[in-house]
Amino acid sequence: MFFSALTVWLLQLYLGLVASKPHKLERAISGLKPQLSSGAVITLPWDKRWDELQIRATSPRLVPHYSVVVEAATESDVQATVALASRFNIPFLAVSGGHGWTSTLDKLPYGIQINLRKLNTTTVNHDGKTATVGGGTLQHEIVRSLFAKGKYTTTGLCECTSVAGPLLGGGHSYLQGQYGYVLDNLVSARVVTASGELVEASSTKNPDLFWALRGAGHNFGIMTSFTMKVYDVASNWTAYSILFASDKVEALFDLVNEFEEPSSKRPAKMALTAAVIRLPPIDPIKPVISFTLVYEGPEHEAAPYAAQFQALGPISTRISNMKYQELYAATHNGLDAQPCVKNNNMVGAGISVPAWDLKGVREAITIFGNLSADPRFSKSTILLENYGMQGVRAVDPSLTSLPLEERQLPGLASPILFWEGEDEQTTQDAHDYVRRIKEALFLGVDKNNGTRHSYLNYANGDESRQELYGYGEKLEKLVRLKKIWDSENRFGFYNSLV
Ligand SMILES: Cc1cc2nc3c(=O)[nH]c(=O)nc-3n(C[C@H](O)[C@H](O)[C@H](O)COP(=O)(O)OP(=O)(O)OC[C@H]3O[C@@H](n4cnc5c(N)ncnc54)[C@H](O)[C@@H]3O)c2cc1C
Ligand SMILES: *[C@@H]1O[C@H](CO)[C@@H](O)[C@H](O)[C@H]1NC(C)=O
Ligand SMILES: *[C@@H]1O[C@H](CO)[C@@H](O)[C@H](O)[C@H]1NC(C)=O
Ligand SMILES: *[C@@H]1O[C@H](CO)[C@@H](O)[C@H](O)[C@H]1NC(C)=O
Ligand SMILES: *[C@@H]1O[C@H](CO)[C@@H](O)[C@H](O)[C@H]1NC(C)=O
Repeated sequence: MFFSALTVWLLQLYLGLVASKPHKLERAISGLKPQLSSGAVITLPWDKRWDELQIRATSPRLVPHYSVVVEAATESDVQATVALASRFNIPFLAVSGGHGWTSTLDKLPYGIQINLRKLNTTTVNHDGKTATVGGGTLQHEIVRSLFAKGKYTTTGLCECTSVAGPLLGGGHSYLQGQYGYVLDNLVSARVVTASGELVEASSTKNPDLFWALRGAGHNFGIMTSFTMKVYDVASNWTAYSILFASDKVEALFDLVNEFEEPSSKRPAKMALTAAVIRLPPIDPIKPVISFTLVYEGPEHEAAPYAAQFQALGPISTRISNMKYQELYAATHNGLDAQPCVKNNNMVGAGISVPAWDLKGVREAITIFGNLSADPRFSKSTILLENYGMQGVRAVDPSLTSLPLEERQLPGLASPILFWEGEDEQTTQDAHDYVRRIKEALFLGVDKNNGTRHSYLNYANGDESRQELYGYGEKLEKLVRLKKIWDSENRFGFYNSLV
């Protein structure tokens, strides 16, 4: 028996304390259990695993309020849970990697966590050109599954986030210069919509939903599985880790800007990323810039590009040759690395720019100097990334709801602050620092009277809808489609469209 008398009593007591309409959730959950597969697990607040299932990468800053966790083991588990939640009008939120950092996730008012982690299979299809991926698959899982078959796809830079989360809002990766964003590689998806219906979305089936998913997908449904293009692994990668003192900032970002000029012969196989960090053994006073040039191919091909950076006089250069799947750990984005640590507060802010404004970058780094000298925030960083735009710009922008700005602007930046504990003052200080760094990085855009664009997956909840979803017709169309697919805004906890 799932419900012992004691459990029912505790449930009623608990619901009486926390939920405004307790009878609804109680009825819903008791009706749900028989509809779920044998692999599904329902966890309630007094169960042993409850605390573990509350942990996010961004907790305790973000703790969406759940009354129950349903770990779905099949597509129909997701469908049954959403259908029931919709019928009883109970809020719910899908969780895959648990790395979403926008504060809007915190608005979930005592609802159901639909945990997708059991849906983590990756299967290369017979044609060898596509793979079918479970909705809760993590990057390290897809990368390893595909690599074992000599394949890879546009996966982001971190082993611990999901595939679906980044995809639905864009998906930046080392491979975007060649193959576009993660969402550009989506072929079809199976989606549970707000009503609990399971539909397919592709260029031929529900094309409007398919369009909306690729750019604003978190607002439209839960992808239980999806099919992505995959590619044959052709060669190893060469990675240059180049460390610069902070006095080289202007020279460095001037050179990066040159690489982004239309006339530059920048190879699509190259990505450039910088992380401003504090490294006291190297520089006890000022931050340093950890710059990475990765290139798919042998060192002799990458060397001429790297030479231009080495000519700026870095502190050190380390060159390594490795397989695609080893890049994650080598660039400090592996499962054990700081960005993947769970239950460690984190907040960022996406900033997209046409070019680096040298004054703005300098100011951001000056603020970071203060921030990182504060022991509460010493593990923080500012990312300044140029992954490459050839593959992204090759896609017709009208095919997806992704805002035009995201296809045009080559510079992607974000302060990433980490801190421990639940101290409110520290949280407020973190947000103040993030705001100041964001203002600094937008200096160049503002000076030219440009419009501000922020990357949806790096948003923290302070942004306007236009800043995230674009200023033109796409936003209007998205709002129209939202009325059709999710008129009650049940999928409204990730940077809501409406
Ligand atoms: C360490 C780190 C590295 C990152 N690296 C990159 C990067 O290289 N490139 C990049 O583009 N972004 C990157 N990001 C940003 C990333 O895209 C977002 O943080 C994203 O929200 C993480 O998704 P998640 O599934 O891990 O988190 P979650 O919090 O589980 O999910 C985020 C949102 O997606 C929804 N969701 C999750 N799965 C599904 C699904 N199957 N169907 C429908 N909705 C779903 C959730 O409901 C939630 O609203 C990174 C973030 C971190 C913390
Ligand atoms: C799916 O997740 C389980 C549990 O974490 C893990 O043991 C398994 O290896 C994962 N599957 C794949 C294909 O990565
Ligand atoms: C690829 O990298 C691996 C190390 O990860 C190395 O052992 C191997 O020799 C490399 N292959 C080539 C062709 O360089
Ligand atoms: C850095 O901190 C010092 C001392 O607290 C302060 O005087 C200075 O204004 C700060 N600078 C910035 C850019 O925040
Ligand atoms: C920006 O707008 C202001 C006020 O309208 C104007 O004076 C200025 O010349 C503009 N700057 C640019 C770079 O267009």
